[in-house]
Amino acid sequence: MTILITGATNGLGAYLATQLVKAGEDVVAHGRNPERLRRLSEELGVSTVQADLTDLSQVDRLADEISGRFDRLDVLVNNAGIGTGPDPSRREESADGIELRFAVNYLAGYHLTRRLVPLLTASAPSRVVNVSSAGQQAIDFADPQLTKSYDGGRAYRQSKLAQIMFTIDLAGELREAGVTVNALHPATLMPTTMVREAGRRVMSTLDEGGSAVLRLITDPEPAPVTGAYFDGTARSEPDTQASSADARGQLRTLSEALVATALDRRAG
Ligand SMILES: NC(=O)c1ccc[n+]([C@@H]2O[C@H](COP(=O)([O-])OP(=O)(O)OC[C@H]3O[C@@H](n4cnc5c(N)ncnc54)[C@H](OP(=O)(O)O)[C@@H]3O)[C@@H](O)[C@H]2O)c1
Repeated sequence: MTILITGATNGLGAYLATQLVKAGEDVVAHGRNPERLRRLSEELGVSTVQADLTDLSQVDRLADEISGRFDRLDVLVNNAGIGTGPDPSRREESADGIELRFAVNYLAGYHLTRRLVPLLTASAPSRVVNVSSAGQQAIDFADPQLTKSYDGGRAYRQSKLAQIMFTIDLAGELREAGVTVNALHPATLMPTTMVREAGRRVMSTLDEGGSAVLRLITDPEPAPVTGAYFDGTARSEPDTQASSADARGQLRTLSEALVATALDRRAG
């Protein structure tokens, strides 16, 4: 299988890439840092693709590159992400002027996935696995980018719920096309950069979270399930906002507008 993992140069993504290569899968490792990608490619023998997910024009170019270089895509794992940051009170924006956690954790994966739908559909049965979190909070559509009152924890949790809302919508759209779309919380507080940066106490191993993600990537058993959210390996319920078709519609409208504005600005 050809499996694209975003954010494969560190933490959970690097763990997944290593395990999948050991299992004989063709891994395409995405990263933002060329030197880290070079080292990963030397170490694991994987194909690599580079893009900074803070910039939607780079995400767009990444989708073009993947569609041009690879004949098929069996699994897309949207794993790359940032935590609350070293100073959770400091609001940051992406290169496109979008609140940074929303931009990197959700919108980049949203745009990449939508652009790769033709390749995923042509490769069906195929899968999208969105690495979300149990840390979720309802999106405030009056101020989704938290311009008035910012908190890094809230920004992170909103972005993680947005991934799940997108999962439900895309699963519905692709049900007949043979592409399953699922989201999960891998494990709580694994020993990775974002957890260390937040000064949180480690509570799980990478093996625990990694095996839950690997199950959604490779196990035949959950394949027919789509539009689901898992806490580890257990089917679970996300924040109630995810079940609102109206809220999901608002998120989609917002996402399309933000992507269009960002790409127009870059083109113009
Ligand atoms: N750790 C946990 O306990 C935990 C719990 C629940 C959910 N998660 C989720 O698991 C996923 C992986 O996180 P992790 O814990 O493995 O964190 P991590 O070690 O900090 O890894 C994050 C990955 O995302 C990449 N990344 C960050 N910003 C990027 C950008 N602008 N462009 C491209 N790539 C970027 C990083 O690239 P570099 O290698 O260049 O830094 C890195 O490879 C995230 O979605 C996170 O929300 C983690």
